[in-house]
Amino acid sequence: MHNEPIALNQALATFDALWSPRIVTRVNDYDVRIAKVHGEHLWHAHDDTDEFFLVLEGELTIALREPEGERTVVLQQGAVFTVPRGTEHKPSAPAGAAILMFEPTGTPTVGDRHEAVPDHVDATTGHALGA
Ligand code: NI
Repeated sequence: MHNEPIALNQALATFDALWSPRIVTRVNDYDVRIAKVHGEHLWHAHDDTDEFFLVLEGELTIALREPEGERTVVLQQGAVFTVPRGTEHKPSAPAGAAILMFEPTGTPTVGDRHEAVPDHVDATTGHALGA
């Protein structure tokens, strides 16, 4: 972590791994993470924290299992959405996307409860940028 401005487009150019977030900076005890995504993530829930999404490039779909039933939200580039704590969700990006997430340091990408982790998904609490 270094205290210099970070150009997100340049940061995104430093890695190709999908569903494998890089931590670009920290705010108090929260990470700002960026990820490249394509295809489907997995159903999971974070029991103790909300999860913030901002779409940097492309389009992100998030399926949600809410008390009222299942629904899907579609986030275009520039859109933000917060998944409430405890809500099962499954992000996907059929055509690929770049996203930014804001969540407490140490939050696992696959949540506290999840279905089987597919090979193309990195179960991580985020990687250092450039690592
Ligand atoms: Ni999540």
